[in-house]
Amino acid sequence: MKNLEGKVIIVTGGAAGIGGAMTTEFTERGASVVAVDLNEEAGKEKVASNPEKIAFLKGDISKESIAKEAVELAVSKFGKLTSLVNNAHASRQKPLLELTEEDWALSMDTGLKGTLNFMKAAYPELKKTKGSIVNFGSGAGLLGQKNQGSYAATKEAIRGLSRVAANEWAEDGIRVNVVCPLAFTDGVKQWKENFPEQYEEIISKNPMHRFGDPQKDVAPIIAFLLGEDSQYMTGQTLMADGGDIKLR
Ligand SMILES: NC(=O)c1ccc[n+]([C@@H]2O[C@H](COP(=O)([O-])OP(=O)(O)OC[C@H]3O[C@@H](n4cnc5c(N)ncnc54)[C@H](O)[C@@H]3O)[C@@H](O)[C@H]2O)c1
Repeated sequence: MKNLEGKVIIVTGGAAGIGGAMTTEFTERGASVVAVDLNEEAGKEKVASNPEKIAFLKGDISKESIAKEAVELAVSKFGKLTSLVNNAHASRQKPLLELTEEDWALSMDTGLKGTLNFMKAAYPELKKTKGSIVNFGSGAGLLGQKNQGSYAATKEAIRGLSRVAANEWAEDGIRVNVVCPLAFTDGVKQWKENFPEQYEEIISKNPMHRFGDPQKDVAPIIAFLLGEDSQYMTGQTLMADGGDIKLR
């Protein structure tokens, strides 16, 4: 399916995990992608898989300068920017009383600050192309999952920020939506090892009894929000989680 033909998309964390799957899926749907990630090895592998359509920028998404560089790279290499996916987010899982200032800063800086920095840097180009932004939330934020204080708070702040941007930027033709995924990635694998009971609980109560496949199950839902079929949607949260959480 080529529903992203001609799109130029920045994917933060686009070298591995759900981000890596999106980079591959979006290019298969006709888009060009700038993947921004700390993981240089995985980033180089992505570029090698499709050098014409994928560019890689090594950098920490919490730094404002990296957001600006990513936008410049999209425009210099692919001629424009049509879409932004704020996917990368780092955090540590701990009970609330054990959270340090450093833990809090890691989640807020990579999650909320990174998302805002990339949105602000991309705005002038997205205004020209009437672009689309997808930010990442989480079921952990919606449910208030134990041990996820800094992460859940950041994810819900991202949803609030996205709704404000949807209202402020609709008149510029820019849409802003949120996806909350559930997919088996290296990040989840690590979390499963630390919290096996929470993992089993999710699997048992999920109607489909499985985590999604990053490329087959999750990336197409973001592709829909970046494409023209969703042109009348903004400010929404979509659950890409096998029916785990039903928003009302
Ligand atoms: N996997 C799930 O089931 C799940 C569930 C809910 C929400 N999410 C959200 O989906 C998104 C992707 O999750 P994932 O499981 O693929 O994560 P992951 O940890 O597997 O991959 C994240 C990618 O981001 C990169 N990254 C981390 N910190 C960075 C930084 N400061 N600068 C640049 N790159 C950085 C990593 O190198 C990695 O390539 C995240 O926002 C996560 O919170 C995932």
